[in-house]
Amino acid sequence: MVRVHPDAERVLITAEEISRRVKELGEEISRDYAGKEILVVGILKGAAIFMADLVRCLTIPVQLDFMAVSSYGASTESSGVVRILKDLEENIEGLDVLLVEDIVDTGLTLNYLRENLLTRNPASLKICTLLDKPSRRKVQVKVDYNGFVIPDEFVVGYGLDYNGRYRNLRDILVLKREVYSGGC
Ligand code: IMP
Ligand code: MG
Repeated sequence: MVRVHPDAERVLITAEEISRRVKELGEEISRDYAGKEILVVGILKGAAIFMADLVRCLTIPVQLDFMAVSSYGASTESSGVVRILKDLEENIEGLDVLLVEDIVDTGLTLNYLRENLLTRNPASLKICTLLDKPSRRKVQVKVDYNGFVIPDEFVVGYGLDYNGRYRNLRDILVLKREVYSGGC
């Protein structure tokens, strides 16, 4: 069923499509890490919903941890400055780590996180994103698993927000421009 929110221009990816793709990603990741246990690190808050669904599609043993970073503030443009607001609770030295993020846009956030986590000597570090907006990339970052490549549009839902809102929507929606450009 397609639900259109009043602040949305259109539905980009339906909840059903997301669910199918997350299951596929879970199967692929479980195959790649067969016989291993992984630490799944979710980036709050955007990745929380994706991560919750993804880890339930994994058949390998997992542990979970979270980080929170700030990059955008209330705007839709990356400032390029990444600050750690909440760090991991555990030492990741020697662990197989899978970093889970909602979207890779400019790449600044994931590039920063990747370099930061690598200094802590994990056995391996891979990156899984739900969405990839390649047209806006400023730094190249290797994404090992991605759900969907999307066009250059500002999207919300399924964990993604604008100004803290819309994270609970089940579909991924293109937000109406007037919602974030203040009129016209
Ligand atoms: P990057 O550092 O530019 O790659 O940005 C990554 C972060 O920007 C993501 O974790 C999101 O929080 C945010 N972001 C980028 N594009 C969108 C979007 O279309 N909707 C909502 N958040 C976005
Ligand atoms: Mg985010």
